[in-house]
Amino acid sequence: MTTGLKVENLTRRFGGRDVVSDVSLEVMPGQVMCLLGPSGCGKSTTLRMVAGVDRQDSGRISVGGEVVSDDTVHLPAEARHIGLMFQDFALFPHLSVFDNVAFGLKGTKREAMRRVGELLERVHLEGFETAFPHELSGGEQQRVALARAVAPRPRIMLMDEPFSGLDNRLRDGIRDETLDILKDEGTAVLLVTHEPDEAMRMADEIALMREGRIVQRGAPYNVYNAPVDRSAAAFFSDINVIRGVVKGALTDTPFGGFLAPGFPDGSAVEIVIRPQHIRIDFDRQGRGPNPTPEDGTPARGTVVRSRFMGNESLVEFRMDHDGSILKATVPSVFLPKEGMALWLMIRRGRCFVFRQKD
Ligand SMILES: Nc1ncnc2c1ncn2[C@@H]1O[C@H](COP(=O)(O)OP(=O)(O)OP(=O)(O)O)[C@@H](O)[C@H]1O
Ligand SMILES: [Mg+2]
Repeated sequence: MTTGLKVENLTRRFGGRDVVSDVSLEVMPGQVMCLLGPSGCGKSTTLRMVAGVDRQDSGRISVGGEVVSDDTVHLPAEARHIGLMFQDFALFPHLSVFDNVAFGLKGTKREAMRRVGELLERVHLEGFETAFPHELSGGEQQRVALARAVAPRPRIMLMDEPFSGLDNRLRDGIRDETLDILKDEGTAVLLVTHEPDEAMRMADEIALMREGRIVQRGAPYNVYNAPVDRSAAAFFSDINVIRGVVKGALTDTPFGGFLAPGFPDGSAVEIVIRPQHIRIDFDRQGRGPNPTPEDGTPARGTVVRSRFMGNESLVEFRMDHDGSILKATVPSVFLPKEGMALWLMIRRGRCFVFRQKD
């Protein structure tokens, strides 16, 4: 028995195509689950079915242990105790801040006043009760929208890219405030985003979606550090790919050998490494550092592009051995010049080996 949100085997078809395919997930009270994936993968469609503004072709949705939608039952959106926050969170323009936040509240006027007061204080908008939406900044409007969505104490909060209209600096603050409030209220949150940074910042658990299916789920740390395949790795950052063929559970490359346990001899594999996990060392009259078990054998490359990014520099190398391009990030105190020769090593503990897809 769950008191949060449970979605089982949800499928939705448009024009003969499965846009959402067998999606199952569970969100507990006080937990934030992020549906993360590229544009068009079916995130909003999933959320709309949970909200009750669209109906699945098959599958079941339960809220607080009660089935709100399956083949036979289908409660309307307003009967599901669900709060909604979308990108175009449109406040009611003709209502004051107070009336906007009080909109979904039942009970006495006195209770409404207490609840609205408490929430406006939470979102740092005390004193704005009589203001109208057009008198507020984007960030202030977003906070009113948050207070309005939270006011009736929904058991579930569904959020679809709710912060994408805000500029970067404003966004981080509002994200954190939103999380604090939803955690305090014990709300189960299903948040949709196509931005990995947002998902990692907000989520207790990420469900990575691709073409209508959930391909991986787990805590941000695990999804980032143990991607199920190359695309899952590439969704979170730039990646480098080195190809090889397995022989005796080992793949030999210009960077030395990589363990490839479980792959039969002759399998074509891809070794995937994020730019921040490539180690760089200086050229010493045509020689690099000595090989180590952790970092393997160094291979030499020439800097073809070097960009200062603030916290780090992003450097692109053309490798001597095959002319391929590899990207590495280094601390920004270091901005190597084009044409400089450097040696690259690959952290064995940080790379992933996948079967090569054709
Ligand atoms: N009512 C509809 N009729 C037909 N096709 C639809 C309908 N709603 C969504 N789709 C299609 O389903 C697919 C998934 O759409 P959805 O809005 O769920 O994507 P998304 O993951 O939210 O993408 P984004 O990050 O761009 O918002 C898209 O190809 C879209 O064109
Ligand atoms: Mg969407």
